[in-house]
Amino acid sequence: MNTLQKYIETHRNRFVEELFDLLRTPSISADSDYKPQIAKTAKQVASALEKIGCDHVQEIQTQGNPVVYADKIIDTKLPTVLVYGHYDVQPADPLDLWESEPFEPTIKNTLIHPEGAIFARGACDDKGQFFMHVKAIEYLITTNQLPCNIKFMVEGEEEIGSPSLEATIKEYKELFKNDVILISDTGMISNTQPSITTGLRGLSYVEVEVTGPNRDLHSGFYGGAVANPINILSKMIAELHDENNKITIPGFYDDVLELSETDREEMAKAPFDQQTYNKSIAISKEAGEKGYSTLERSSVRPTLDVNGIWGGYIGKGAKTVLPSKAYAKISMRLVANQDPDKITELFTRHFLSLAPESVTVKITPHHGGKAYLTPLDSIGYQAAHKAYSQTFKTPPIPQPSGGSIPIVSLFNDVFGSHTILMGFGLNTDAIHSPNEHFGLFNFFKGIETIPYFYQHFTELYKNS
Ligand code: BES
Ligand code: MN
Ligand code: MN
Repeated sequence: MNTLQKYIETHRNRFVEELFDLLRTPSISADSDYKPQIAKTAKQVASALEKIGCDHVQEIQTQGNPVVYADKIIDTKLPTVLVYGHYDVQPADPLDLWESEPFEPTIKNTLIHPEGAIFARGACDDKGQFFMHVKAIEYLITTNQLPCNIKFMVEGEEEIGSPSLEATIKEYKELFKNDVILISDTGMISNTQPSITTGLRGLSYVEVEVTGPNRDLHSGFYGGAVANPINILSKMIAELHDENNKITIPGFYDDVLELSETDREEMAKAPFDQQTYNKSIAISKEAGEKGYSTLERSSVRPTLDVNGIWGGYIGKGAKTVLPSKAYAKISMRLVANQDPDKITELFTRHFLSLAPESVTVKITPHHGGKAYLTPLDSIGYQAAHKAYSQTFKTPPIPQPSGGSIPIVSLFNDVFGSHTILMGFGLNTDAIHSPNEHFGLFNFFKGIETIPYFYQHFTELYKNS
């Protein structure tokens, strides 16, 4: 055992206890009722950073939830790594599907996590993951081994699209200035096959409202003679994909960066079993855009999905009604080169054109963001690659993810620095779902791997 492993071994229980404290506060950003808990969590994060010896710890007030900043600047000639994370979490609903309380963290064993996993909302996304950095830095500061400068930016609005962060990073551009950005808020293939997330999808998110008559009508008196907005909306939505599951919005694919054959071959090397995949989510057959594999469909191809649809009568029993309104929330995951504003515009134009004269359609855009690709030849990626190889004893596979962290492409625009996505979660960790968890193996392996990143990055930086 080296000194790092010994340090982790000695302080294991305390690390878990400290994370538990953070997990006990329900910092749900989507619901304004939780403002006090958000404020409390920001304070907990700030005090955790103070305790490990960070300087200039402060809560930056924004239009929305506070951003926690801290740093340890040891020498301005050395490179600076900015660690980004988010202390806000998704709502815990549906509550009745949780096997233990979402905000009362508990350790349980699972097939995939025989060494135990922490079950709680935010365990993996993202409290458990950014906390690995806090503990890795604790080790480096305590043992006097910090090789470079570090800064923390832990925000509280990631799960609602980071509405205040753009203004904040522009206002505090100097404060957050960095040479590379490090984020643990994604996943890896498995505990025996590490991977580094090399891509994130962008997002365009819209809400549509279809209005027919000015009020709900008796479906006997009026049914058949007046357009039903739910029928119409369903038809309009169905028209957004063709028989090959391609999106029919004109111009939608114009800017899509197509993968080269070599890239596709590279991607196909990642271990993946369709049967296991189908079984894990209880489907009998996969589905998606013709001509692409499941891994491609869920990472490097753009998509359009209805996230929710409602209208009319949904109470008990049967009520005969021809509804006045129908609604849907629709998200489009975007890939490199697609511009979210342009896509929202194309969607709007096309969707309006699908509407018959018998209804009116209103479209409201929500948050969006561009996709991001980490350059594999960057020193940040190389440093991460070396770090994983050392602690997992096997080289990590680069793997683009289908998820989004919209702020990442903005970081690139504002700071001109690359983002390295060192995620230690697993796809099966149920983030955003009931029974979210984070493996203890993953938590401690993360704490062990992160310090090597700092060392390799600093060395590569000096030689570049
Ligand atoms: N940490 C996730 C994103 C993620 C998870 C990316 C796993 C890759 C692998 C993040 O907290 C998240 O949930 N992002 C949202 C977008 C946001 C605008 C609400 C998403 O991807 O749906
Ligand atoms: Mn996250
Ligand atoms: Mn999330």
